[in-house]
Amino acid sequence: MIESTRDKNLDDNRFITSTKNLTDAEIENSLRPTSFDEYVGQEKAKESLSVYIQAAKARKESLDHVLLYGPPGLGKTTLSRIIANEMGASFKVTSGPAIEHAADLAAILTNLNQNDVLFIDEIHRLNKTVEEILYPAMEDFALDFIVGKGPSARNMRLKIKPFTLIGATTRAGMLTNPLRDRFGVICRLELYSVEDLQVIISRSAKILGIDIDKEASIEIARRSRGTPRIANRLLKRVRDYAQVLGAGKITVEVTKQTLKKMDIDELGLDTIDRKILLSIIDKFGGGPVGLDTLAATISEDATTIEDVYEPYLLQLGFISRTPRGRVALEPAYKHLGKEFLAK
Ligand SMILES: Nc1ncnc2c1ncn2[C@@H]1O[C@H](COP(=O)(O)OP(=O)(O)O)[C@@H](O)[C@H]1O
Ligand SMILES: [Mg+2]
Repeated sequence: MIESTRDKNLDDNRFITSTKNLTDAEIENSLRPTSFDEYVGQEKAKESLSVYIQAAKARKESLDHVLLYGPPGLGKTTLSRIIANEMGASFKVTSGPAIEHAADLAAILTNLNQNDVLFIDEIHRLNKTVEEILYPAMEDFALDFIVGKGPSARNMRLKIKPFTLIGATTRAGMLTNPLRDRFGVICRLELYSVEDLQVIISRSAKILGIDIDKEASIEIARRSRGTPRIANRLLKRVRDYAQVLGAGKITVEVTKQTLKKMDIDELGLDTIDRKILLSIIDKFGGGPVGLDTLAATISEDATTIEDVYEPYLLQLGFISRTPRGRVALEPAYKHLGKEFLAK
């Protein structure tokens, strides 16, 4: 496991995280949509996946291997479960860092039943020898072994049952080419619109039995940085405040107060976002500054900045990525109340 305890500790105190924290696991299971109908937004991905699923079912074949990529919390795991449900297939879960040896993966693969869905989370973190097992498994539903040693060594091929691999990753670019090429379907999940997030928040509130004003749900949606997981987390925090402060109903006032206490601004930016922006602006004259330099300056992990923080800052038009590094753009200056001098 590559995850350090440092990351875990930090994540416990933080709101925007790359990994899930404990309470998430409990609520996420109850809030997780189980069918395409309940899965809000991501119309493009849903539409193409439904077509492939129907076609595979009509041919009574396993679905082509699917790669889902996009920032954390956008619904990759959820969508994978839905795909298995819709296929009427059983769902087996593992993750890149959890599979240490090639033999572990070989055992998982040989135990799959016809048309099962195998979900590998963080698939970019598979090690090389493990990954190589996947190539013939994905392509020919077979495992290749070398038996014996020296001149008498020979190749052996073991057939496995047809299955569907669903891989999830934060960035498709982190996969090796041979692995990426073996996925028939590649779907990129997008940040959600405020409208979609509002629907998700209303749905979650209903499931959790929370009374919430429409304006309050829009306010939370606006500050969820395009991410359902964050929307659900904010909803829970605001509920806690609503219970302590008021009659239990979530109003815009309670929402605003809660988010203020959490240091989350009107756009959903938190202290780390502001640190990133202020660092580019004040320490590096607006940029360009390389990602690693920026990460070191604010004592943050470069991958976390790139995968967790930047997608939203890019979408807001607050930063841009150039070949020479990150640059802060005019809207970022405005938002932070800084004077922008065109270069
Ligand atoms: N399209 C969606 N509609 C409704 N809720 C969603 C949707 N996508 C994600 N969620 C909610 O957000 C949570 C996080 O989604 P998850 O699939 O775990 O994200 P990822 O695997 O991409 O990190 C889920 O538990 C679910 O409650
Ligand atoms: Mg996930």
